[in-house]
Amino acid sequence: MDNKDTYLLNFKDYNFESSLVDADFIENLDDFEIRDDDVFIITYPKSGTIWTQQILSLIYFEGHRNRTEDLATLDRVPFLEYNIRKMDFLNRPSPRLFCSHLPYYLVPKGLKNKKAKIIYVYRNPKDVMTSYFHFSNLVVTLEAGNDMEHFMKRFLDGNETVWPDHRRTAMVYPFKVDVVLNNFSYPQFFQDLRSSVLKISRFLEKELSEEDVEAIVKQATFQNMKSDPKANYDEILKHEIGKRTDEGHFLRKGTVGDWKHHFTVEQNERFDKIFEKNMKNLPLKFIWDLN
Ligand code: A3P
Repeated sequence: MDNKDTYLLNFKDYNFESSLVDADFIENLDDFEIRDDDVFIITYPKSGTIWTQQILSLIYFEGHRNRTEDLATLDRVPFLEYNIRKMDFLNRPSPRLFCSHLPYYLVPKGLKNKKAKIIYVYRNPKDVMTSYFHFSNLVVTLEAGNDMEHFMKRFLDGNETVWPDHRRTAMVYPFKVDVVLNNFSYPQFFQDLRSSVLKISRFLEKELSEEDVEAIVKQATFQNMKSDPKANYDEILKHEIGKRTDEGHFLRKGTVGDWKHHFTVEQNERFDKIFEKNMKNLPLKFIWDLN
């Protein structure tokens, strides 16, 4: 373990957010026991994790759909590596839902051995970077993004950004054949939330009534989530993570292509070059934009 600076904790070439992680837990991650009926959402940060947490928990639990169990998103679907609520994962009843930003080489070995199900969600990396830039200026746990040029250098260099080697390894998930996995893109959710909910529920073999689907879609829209303090991390950001400013929320803009409002032509070209180099030789069939 290497404490690179106040924000990062480097472990096996991967940078964790130091203030949110428990070093002992991380050291033993590989052996964390995975159950067959665990479900994992895996994402690169800012790709729509919270959206998928919401959808998944609504699919799984009637009490979440009808709000008799009115829990915050993080309590419904906790982060494996950022257990800031100190949940007792081992005694958590099945089916356990988790989310994680871990790259493939760091996930518990049980996940690599065909146990559990994985929903992998990705997003156009330019939108990811734009979202991440704003988020870094919002929370105290990340080094401030400052201006876009400054942040882009960090993000593209992989030196300072929080998850340097994740850019590529995360993208490899969809091509691993030895895990039970289904992958989705943010633009797919955006374009047709209903079909995405149905696709996820089929993958999880969860039968939903027409009414259930309606309830899920309704509660997973951007507007609904943004105005619901339980769904949008409001309290957690304020009291457990910490904000630099009162302005700004976890759910910021929720669109596809917002990068176009933030990148210069030169920044876009630079991004493309580096991205292409990093992603060389991957069977790229990503859905980055709306049809
Ligand atoms: P923006 O900053 O572009 O708005 P993550 O949970 O992985 O950190 O992702 C956060 C991003 O997903 C934010 O992007 C957030 O607004 C967006 N998001 C979350 N819920 C959403 C929803 N219901 N509809 C559209 N976008 C959503």
